[in-house]
Parts: sequence; C-alpha cells; structure tokens
Amino acid sequence: MKVLVLGGTGATGKLVVQQLLDQGHSVVALVRNASKLSRHERLDIFEQTALTISRQELTELLTGCDAVISCLGHNLTWKGMYGAPQMLVRDSIQRICESINAPRQTPIRIVLMNTTGNRNLDQAEPVSFAQHSVLWLLRLLLPPHVDNERAANYLRSTQKNNPLIEWVAVRPDSLIDEEAVSPTTLHPSPTRSAIFNAGKTSRINVAHFMSQLPVDAELWQCWKGKMPVIYNQEL
Ligand SMILES: NC(=O)c1ccc[n+]([C@@H]2O[C@H](COP(=O)([O-])OP(=O)(O)OC[C@H]3O[C@@H](n4cnc5c(N)ncnc54)[C@H](OP(=O)(O)O)[C@@H]3O)[C@@H](O)[C@H]2O)c1
Repeated sequence: MKVLVLGGTGATGKLVVQQLLDQGHSVVALVRNASKLSRHERLDIFEQTALTISRQELTELLTGCDAVISCLGHNLTWKGMYGAPQMLVRDSIQRICESINAPRQTPIRIVLMNTTGNRNLDQAEPVSFAQHSVLWLLRLLLPPHVDNERAANYLRSTQKNNPLIEWVAVRPDSLIDEEAVSPTTLHPSPTRSAIFNAGKTSRINVAHFMSQLPVDAELWQCWKGKMPVIYNQEL
C-alpha cells in the first residue's frame, strides 16, 4: 500500500511513518522541513504542505496513493496557536478531499488524528454542563481546538456519500510518550470526560492504530465513517 502522510515530522506522525515503513508499505510525506525525517528507499519526501503544493501536483500524488493519514497539529507556540493557518487541519483535509477527483478502482482511505475533546455529532454524545462550558471557552480562546472540531466535522458532514473517499477520525485522549506499543481499548464514543477525567493514550499506540486502519480490511470496515476513541488499557 502507498500512504500519503501529513504531519509526518510530528511526534505522532514520525511514528506513523516508521510503522508504515516497518510493515513494508510505501510512504509519501508532505513536510515543511525534510531534514526532520530519516531517508528510506520507500519514503518519498516533498518539502511542501497540503496547503502550499499545487492542486495539480496534489491530485497526481493522490492518484498514486491508497490512503492518507493526517497527524497534523498546531505547534505549541504563540505563532503556531494563533498565527496562520488557523484552520491548518481542516483546510488541509478539505484540500486533500477536493483534490481526489479522478475515477478510482477503490475509494481512498483517509485517517484523521483528532481528539476526545471533540464530540461526534452523529452520536449524540452526552456532555455535562461543566464540560460544555469549558469547551465553549476553549473554542473562544484556542483556535487549534476549533480547527480539530472543524476538520472532523468536514469529513462527517461532506464526505459521507463521496464514492471516492472513505474516512476515520481517530480520537486519542491525553497524549503521552512510550517506547513500545501496548494494549489499548477502542470505543465509538468517549467513556470518560476529556476535561475532568482524561485518560491516557500513548502516541505509539495512536500511530499503531492509525497505520493499521487503512491496511487492515476488517478494522477498516469496523470503523469507517466513525470517530473511534482510543485509550491505553489501564493495568
Ligand atoms: N496533546 C494532546 O494531549 C492531544 C490529545 C489528543 C489529540 N491531540 C491532537 O493530536 C495531533 C498531533 O499531536 P502531536 O503531539 O503528534 O503533534 P506535533 O508533534 O506538534 O506534530 C504536529 C505536526 O504538524 C505539523 N505542522 C504544524 N504546523 C504546520 C503548518 N502550518 N503547516 C504544515 N504542517 C504543520 C508539524 O510540522 P513541523 O514538524 O514542521 O512543525 C508536525 O509535523 C494534534 O492535532 C493535536 O491537537 C493532542
């Protein structure tokens, strides 16, 4: 399989790229700084982002790919949080979707890294008044939170009946770094409050799940068009 990875230089994205390569897949990475990734014979690196690359070049790249995995996220600096592009993730995913227009034998599989702080509005997920109020504040103060919400909403609301695209939005809880893949639990909706009782999800487990999704037919059938929540299994 050939997979286009966005955000492949990030803490989770690097692990996704590595895991795909380790599994024998080919990877195309759109990055801002190519020196952040090690070279590999099955890794093509373009020093372009989904927002800077020409539409024609992006369409051509996507024609040769079976899947897209986005691990994009705003850098935790003032510029990253409040500077342009404020809707980095939503705009990148939208541009990807709009560039998939050539007839294909099978739909392209898009996996978006999202967050438990975002609700799946298809599921009527319950949120307490206190959490609702905090999320309202986050929306006001943190553009990256709104970006994550809009990215998943874009897929959910515009890409349900697109015969060229299938998607999954993966929702980890508080991210931590661990060395090895460990057991996780997967849920259609959060089983704990992302604000008041957050669980932990290691980036390597998110990377493992995200890289398995498009290549494992059974896993894909189980979660396509959904927003699975992933937690590290509590010991
Ligand atoms: N922190 C948490 O607890 C938590 C929990 C759940 C979900 N999340 C979400 O998980 C996602 C990824 O997390 P992470 O820790 O792996 O992120 P990260 O290490 O900050 O990686 C972010 C990636 O996005 C790229 N990027 C940032 N700004 C960009 C721009 N303007 N144009 C193009 N690329 C850009 C970065 O590229 P450079 O390397 O060039 O900077 C990097 O590859 C984020 O969306 C975050 O909201 C976080």
